[in-house]
Amino acid sequence: MPVITNIDDLKRIYERRVPRMFYDYAESGSWTEQTFRDNSSDFHDIRLRQKVAVDMSGRSTASQMIGQHVAMPVALAPVGLTGMQHADGEMKAAKAALDFGVPFTLSTMSINSIEDVAEHTGAPFWFQLYTMKDEDYVRRLIQRAKDAKCSALVITLDLQILGQRHKDLKNGLSAPPKLTAKTIANLMTKWAWGIEMLGAKRREFGNIVGHVQGISDASSLGAWTAEQFDPSLDWTKIEKLMEQWGGKVILKGILDPEDAKMAAKLGADAIVVSNHGGRQLDGALSSIRMLPRIMDAVGGEVEVHLDSGIRSGQDVLKALALGAKGTYIGRAFVYGLGAMGQKGVTTALEVIQKELDTTMALCGERNVADLGPHNLLVPQDFCGRWQE
Ligand SMILES: Cc1cc2nc3c(=O)[nH]c(=O)nc-3n(C[C@H](O)[C@H](O)[C@H](O)COP(=O)(O)O)c2cc1C
Repeated sequence: MPVITNIDDLKRIYERRVPRMFYDYAESGSWTEQTFRDNSSDFHDIRLRQKVAVDMSGRSTASQMIGQHVAMPVALAPVGLTGMQHADGEMKAAKAALDFGVPFTLSTMSINSIEDVAEHTGAPFWFQLYTMKDEDYVRRLIQRAKDAKCSALVITLDLQILGQRHKDLKNGLSAPPKLTAKTIANLMTKWAWGIEMLGAKRREFGNIVGHVQGISDASSLGAWTAEQFDPSLDWTKIEKLMEQWGGKVILKGILDPEDAKMAAKLGADAIVVSNHGGRQLDGALSSIRMLPRIMDAVGGEVEVHLDSGIRSGQDVLKALALGAKGTYIGRAFVYGLGAMGQKGVTTALEVIQKELDTTMALCGERNVADLGPHNLLVPQDFCGRWQE
């Protein structure tokens, strides 16, 4: 058994184990990948303030996200095709999150369906909604999430059209993979993944296949998105979706203070400062750089969460200290899942919690609620001086 001490260890095993097409799918940003890279490197520009001679006993990483108790304020982000990274990937990741005590968010573009995850975990989870042109399908999808007792609807606002990731086009990304000479050659080196996948409950988009009529190709993410996603999604439509749901709503993909104000005005329970992990608007600023400006705009009005670029507990601490009440990890849990299935997701969460706890201690803090700007050294022009 390899000794796992950090998220990069999981990533190395993940890269060896999972077919190239799905590794590339996760490990890509759009176009030049500038935003994808900045998301992580901007965290490194913030430094920590060491404090000594503080009683560090009785520390806790526990907190709340949208009123829900969490073992640490780190939820699993919605990630499409998770069930291609590992057989029954969504069911396994959801179970790992439940056992650990953090929220799991199921993507609309998952392999396991809403019903699969509900049946497997027997506990509420969060459901992420992409809006489609087919309003009847969206209505039924929302109803399915209600029937499954999902405890929050996460509406993603930054993907009305798909950002271009070059590798996905070159690889012909699809679920299940189309058998070309190139994919067959690669799959032959991934036999453990393949054997497990033969026993998987599903190998197609579980929330779509069998639930939508007349679709030309549900296996290709790019084709499906171009054909079905609703490019006309606006604040009026978002308000209607929130009414339709009637429960807790998290608006995800906000990177602009004015948009944050609109989301707060609509009465969202939380917003997620996010650029989709650098997969959509290449050239946008990193989430962590935009966070202070968004906190200034709406910090007192709505709960603010953050994702994009988090690879460690130190990153989590920096986001919390800048005002976020919660964070999400996308790739960091996917690396764990692809490397070692459910155990790998648990390992990723353990690594991050240990890093968060130790960093808190060395910063002289015992509770996540006490973290603040006093724990950080932030470069003076961190948010940038941009002409607006
Ligand atoms: C492979 C992959 C698939 C994703 N699929 C979705 C999705 O279906 N819905 C969604 O709202 N966000 C999706 N995201 C974005 C994540 O929810 C999250 O915003 C992002 O992963 C955070 O950045 P990080 O991976 O650096 O942690 C996806 C991200 C990745 C890496």
